[in-house]
Amino acid sequence: MKVLVLGAAAGGGYPQWNCNSTLCRRVRAGDPAARPRTQSSIAVSADGARWAVFNASPDLRQQFNDNPALHPKEGLRHTPLGAVVLTNADVDHVAGLLTLRERQAFALYASGRVQEALAANPIFNVLHPDYVARRALELGQAAAIRDGKGADLGLTVTPFAVPGKVALYLEDQSAGPDFGTREGDTIGLKIEAAGQGRGFYYIPGCAAVDGPLAERLQGAPLVLFDGTLYHDQEMVEAGLGSKTGKRMGHISISGPEGSLAAFDGLGVGRRIYIHINNSNPVLLEDSAERRSVEAAGWEVAYDGQEIEL
Ligand code: MLT
Ligand code: MN
Repeated sequence: MKVLVLGAAAGGGYPQWNCNSTLCRRVRAGDPAARPRTQSSIAVSADGARWAVFNASPDLRQQFNDNPALHPKEGLRHTPLGAVVLTNADVDHVAGLLTLRERQAFALYASGRVQEALAANPIFNVLHPDYVARRALELGQAAAIRDGKGADLGLTVTPFAVPGKVALYLEDQSAGPDFGTREGDTIGLKIEAAGQGRGFYYIPGCAAVDGPLAERLQGAPLVLFDGTLYHDQEMVEAGLGSKTGKRMGHISISGPEGSLAAFDGLGVGRRIYIHINNSNPVLLEDSAERRSVEAAGWEVAYDGQEIEL
């Protein structure tokens, strides 16, 4: 199984179009310790030929152009893309669907909640049902991923609920502290290829590592995990915004409830931060925060990173 990181950054990307922070200025200046990253997506293939894309980012077009594995291979209209799988309905995970509107067959997998959000927004009707098969993922049930015409891609995905929040644009301000969040709004995925080892976990959005999640991840060979913020307060402290990580539904890397602490002792073979916000100092290869995550055995995902499982 091959995993290709299409975009390692969170929503906004790195640099973000309107951000003039030191982190974003350094990447614009071409600083080799501050490499650009596009928005949140990976591609996975069991056979190296047909691919499933996990989350359709606003940068999807650039990501397809930058990665030869995803270029058309034959005839006048062709794509190695067989399916798109979504982990939530956030803008950074669904906007790229609009780029895929060219009468090309593929399948679109997401939880019932996320499929409802897409169905309720007519702009996604550009994905015509004659070409794009929308299929609901049932929590806890392994699904064989098939392309738009029903051919098996050789990948199995098992979705599970993780602590999180409904998409920002779907928040119900009258619904109390969870903004109307329901099960299925944010999922994690176990991704396996038949006969090719134990698979890996992809969890780009997660508010906390609770008991059930820790148990699930125990001893996993590889986890790609939410690396949005280093400090819960970092956007507030940098003057970039008023939101904490908690308010956004993202666990932080540091702190007693952070992911570094939560993964300590889980025995996960390879741990990679992904969905990294442009405020997060781990993006800087010369930062103390980058050294601290690397010292704890973590990697920081980058665009074009290839992982063979
Ligand atoms: C998130 O990950 O919290 C969202 O992508 C934020 C957003 O929609 O901009
Ligand atoms: Mn996001």
